[in-house]
Amino acid sequence: MALTNSKHGYGTLTKVFHWLIVILFALQFVGGNIMTSIGFNSSFAGISTNDYYNWHKSLGLIALFVAILRIINRQLGHLPPWAPTLSKGEQTFIHRVEQVFYLAMFVMPVTGWLYVMWGHYGVNLFGVWEMPRPLTKDDTLRDIAKWAHIGAGWVLLAAMVGHIGLVLRHQLVKKDGLLKRML
Ligand code: HEM
Ligand code: HEM
Repeated sequence: MALTNSKHGYGTLTKVFHWLIVILFALQFVGGNIMTSIGFNSSFAGISTNDYYNWHKSLGLIALFVAILRIINRQLGHLPPWAPTLSKGEQTFIHRVEQVFYLAMFVMPVTGWLYVMWGHYGVNLFGVWEMPRPLTKDDTLRDIAKWAHIGAGWVLLAAMVGHIGLVLRHQLVKKDGLLKRML
């Protein structure tokens, strides 16, 4: 199997990055909602709120790094042709959803980072490195970044529901093996 995309299908790198981002985004959504629900000085499943925040910020920055690698990889090789079972309307839908995904892979970590920097909360990367805080504290910008982070999260969630729904409809109802293209 080729490392990069080719006319014959997605390359290994695309598949690895795709599923890595799926895992990271799933952890971010679950962790993000737990930490904002349980309140400060609390814990859930033996993990403190503080640790949830640290892991959320750290994994979010790892996701940003993976997104950069993914964009570089997308520029290499040739995109495979559309699956023959996709209608013109579905191709347009997939194309738009993918644009939202690529945007979200940057907007989510960047707004999260801006939020904690303008709030002066900081990032203690995986509990081992207190990252520099290059921005001056600003409560208005902090709030804007926070709501951009939360709002973008909802847009991303809607795109994920559409993307997964389309794949499952092809895989389970049309039984055309669409999922195999990414495995
Ligand atoms: C792939 C990247 C990321 C995703 C998908 C993501 C997703 C989320 C979600 C779903 C929430 C819960 C929102 C809610 O309250 O309903 C959240 C909250 C939060 N995220 Fe992220 N996040 C990402 C990266 C980051 C990064 C890199 C940082 C900081 C460096 C960060 C900082 C925060 C903070 C501080 C909150 C709490 C917001 C609040 O006070 O309500 N996130 N994130
Ligand atoms: C369980 C969840 C998911 C499943 C089953 C799934 C499945 C697939 C499949 C089968 C394809 C290939 C479609 C084709 O034939 O061209 C694909 C492509 C793609 N998926 Fe997903 N996906 C999931 C979640 C996600 C998430 C969370 C993201 C991004 C945040 C994402 C981003 C993409 C992108 C951008 C492509 C186009 C290929 C590329 O340029 O990298 N997917 N997905």
